[in-house]
Amino acid sequence: MHLQQNISLKPYNTFGIDVPAEYFTELKDINDLPEITELPYKKHVLGGGSNILLTQPISGLVMHNKLKGITTEKENENHVWLNVQAGEVWHDLVLYAINNGFGGIENLALIPGTVGASPMQNIGAYGVEAKETIESVTFWYWKEKTFLTYSNRECAFGYRDSIFKHQLKDKAFITSVVYKLNKKPQYNTSYGAIKEELENMGVYELSAKAIAYAVMHIRTSKLPDPKQIGNAGSFFKNPTITKVQFQQLVSLYNSIPSYPVNDLLVKVPAAWLIERCGWKGYRKGDIGVHAKQALVLVNYAHANGNEIWHLSDEIVKSVKAKFNIELEREVQVW
Ligand code: EPU
Repeated sequence: MHLQQNISLKPYNTFGIDVPAEYFTELKDINDLPEITELPYKKHVLGGGSNILLTQPISGLVMHNKLKGITTEKENENHVWLNVQAGEVWHDLVLYAINNGFGGIENLALIPGTVGASPMQNIGAYGVEAKETIESVTFWYWKEKTFLTYSNRECAFGYRDSIFKHQLKDKAFITSVVYKLNKKPQYNTSYGAIKEELENMGVYELSAKAIAYAVMHIRTSKLPDPKQIGNAGSFFKNPTITKVQFQQLVSLYNSIPSYPVNDLLVKVPAAWLIERCGWKGYRKGDIGVHAKQALVLVNYAHANGNEIWHLSDEIVKSVKAKFNIELEREVQVW
C-alpha cells in the first residue's frame, strides 16, 4: 500500500473541483484492506468520482478503488454470471458485455463511473436500472474486518438508492459485483428516444450492440463530456409526487411530462421543472446549468464546490416556490 499526503482530488472527480485529500491511496489489492482498516483516519471511498460534489478539503484517507478484473463465475444456456471487480470502469464492462453478446446492461452504456457505484446508486438510464442484473454485491465491512456478500434483495434497491446509501453508508467498501446477463435476446426499447435513434440508425434487427450504440449517440448529443465541461450527470433526482398534486399541476401546465410509479404516485422530470423556472443555459462565472439538459449543473473551469452547492440551493428554492415540489440532490456531497 502506498500512502500519499496532501493530494489534489481534481483529477479524481468529474466536476473537476480542486480540493486536497489529507491522505490518499489507490487500492489495487483487497489483501491491503485489513492493514488500511487499522489506519487511524476517517476513510472515504472514491470510484470514478462521477457522482460527487467536493465542497471542502477532505480530512482523513481517500481511497481510490482500482480493483480490476472480469471473470465468468458460471453460465448456462440462457445466462452468464460475471464477477466484476468494483474498480472496473462501468462503460468498459458494458463494452465487454456487448462484444460477447451478453444482454442486460446495454441501455446503461456510457454512464460515467465505476462498477462499484452501480449498486450504490442503482444506476439507471433509458428504462433500465442496474438492480435488474445485479445478482449479489461483495463488500468489506469495516467494523467486523470481514467480507460480506449481499443478495440483490438484501441490497434494498430503489430509484438511485440502495442500502449502501443508508444503513451501510460509510460502513462498507464494495469490492465486487456479480451480474446475471442474458445470452438470449431480451431487449428494452420502451424509452421513446431509443426507438427513434434505432430508426435513424437504420437498425431493424435488435442487438445489445445496436442498443448500446443508440444510447451512446443519445447521451453524447445531450450530456456534456466531463473531459470538456466538469459535471456529475443528473444533479437532482426526478421527484415523485402524488397523482392529486400532479392533476393540480396539469391544470396549470398541461405539457408537464410524467412517468407512472404506482396507483397513487407519479414521477415528474426534474429537468422540466428546472427549465420552467428559467435555469436552462444559465451561467454565472464558471458555474452553470447545461444548455441541453437542465438537470446537469456544470463547472466551466475553476468553480469551487460551494458555488455549485449554492446554485443548486437556489434551484431547489425556485422549484419549490413555483411548483411546491422539493427537489432532492442525487450527487453525494463531501
Ligand atoms: N426535459 C426538459 N428539459 C430538459 C431536459 C429534459 O424539459 O432540459 C424533459 C423532457 O420532457 C424529457 C424529460 O424531461 O422528455 C426527460 O428527460 P431525459 O430523457 O433527458 O431524462 P431525465 O429524466 O432528465 C433521467 C436520468 C438520467 C438518464 C435519463 C435517461 C435521473 C435523475 N436522471 O434523466 O440519468 O440518463 O433519465 O434515461 O433519473 C444520471 O443519473 O446522472 C443521469 C444522467
